[in-house]
Amino acid sequence: METKFIKINNENPEENLVALKEAANILKNKGLVAIPTETVYGLAANALCEESAKKIYEAKGRPSDNPLIVHIAEKREVYGLIGKQLSDIEFKLIDKFWPGPLTIVFKKNKLIPKTVSGGLDTVAIRMPKNNIARAVIRECGFPLAAPSANTSTKPSPTLAKHVLEDLDGKIDMIIDGGSCGFGIESTVVQVIEDKIVILRPGSITKLMLKEFGDVEIDKGIVDKNIKAKAPGMKYKHYSPKAKVVLIKGDKEKIVSFINKNLEEDEKLGIKSLPIVYEQTAHFYKEYLTIGDLSKADTVAKNLFAVLRKCDELGLDKVYIEAFDEEEVGLAIMNRLKKAAGDNIIKV
Ligand code: TXA
Ligand code: MG
Repeated sequence: METKFIKINNENPEENLVALKEAANILKNKGLVAIPTETVYGLAANALCEESAKKIYEAKGRPSDNPLIVHIAEKREVYGLIGKQLSDIEFKLIDKFWPGPLTIVFKKNKLIPKTVSGGLDTVAIRMPKNNIARAVIRECGFPLAAPSANTSTKPSPTLAKHVLEDLDGKIDMIIDGGSCGFGIESTVVQVIEDKIVILRPGSITKLMLKEFGDVEIDKGIVDKNIKAKAPGMKYKHYSPKAKVVLIKGDKEKIVSFINKNLEEDEKLGIKSLPIVYEQTAHFYKEYLTIGDLSKADTVAKNLFAVLRKCDELGLDKVYIEAFDEEEVGLAIMNRLKKAAGDNIIKV
């Protein structure tokens, strides 16, 4: 299949109505279109059509028990997809955070196919802020199921060219709407017995949610031995081909540990680099910078592009300095830990 690549201006997508209609037509005909969102690029299909949703799993190589997020264009559309009235907390969360990077898990109704919900009786819904994403949904007239538009296990795409790298020839269309503002996927929450449970950390943090009720972080996120509530959290993710080693601990010790390892790698002919911050870059001869240590948002925005860069450079190994695990840092470290798998070293 030939993958069509088109650019649309995110400030005013309606300027390019022909392209929007073309994307909508593909989706109406059960095809797949990669769309920009404010978090990462999503691989969209008709969320109400079993056959369309199946194609997402095939194109990504995604395990079938990992449910998809359903994207809507207007808040009110949530009522047509859920099987239970909104609770007071859910209503307030929607009111405050939509459109934006918050996904809420609800009881699903019959319209949501089992393929989309990964066999669960719940459905994850979010209303993206990105204008193109919402314009495409409106043009379709149905909600769009859209996981991140990467091949399963790879870092999520924050640029249209990342989608092309992974899915060229496997999907019908990619809409290039520029770089994604947040750079990490939405926060996923579920309101369980009046508690807001964070199933996947993101840019909407515990502190921001606290105003609306008690907030708990799903233990499965922080403890590898506990089963995570979001099926996707158990899978390997965000990994470049290079072996990723995450180093935690005292800042000075981290620097000396990494430099020692880089020297040893060089002797052995292993191609390695450190992934560091603007403040620590000067401690190394060569490096990739991921952002400003004091500005988590910059780190979140650059994170996946830097991990993809490792493959572009053909690296065998990368050493990443740990980030402070507070607020957005919790989401950053969650992605870094996944990328590192078991290679987490405390110095
Ligand atoms: O920012 C985002 O959320 C992006 C953009 C494209 O919207 N999408 C995204 O989708 O990250 P995906 O499929 O890569 O991640 C969805 C996560 C997975 O961890 C999945 O297990 C969880 O949400 N999830 C989806 N439906 C769920 C459900 N019913 N119950 C629990 N977790 C669910
Ligand atoms: Mg994903």
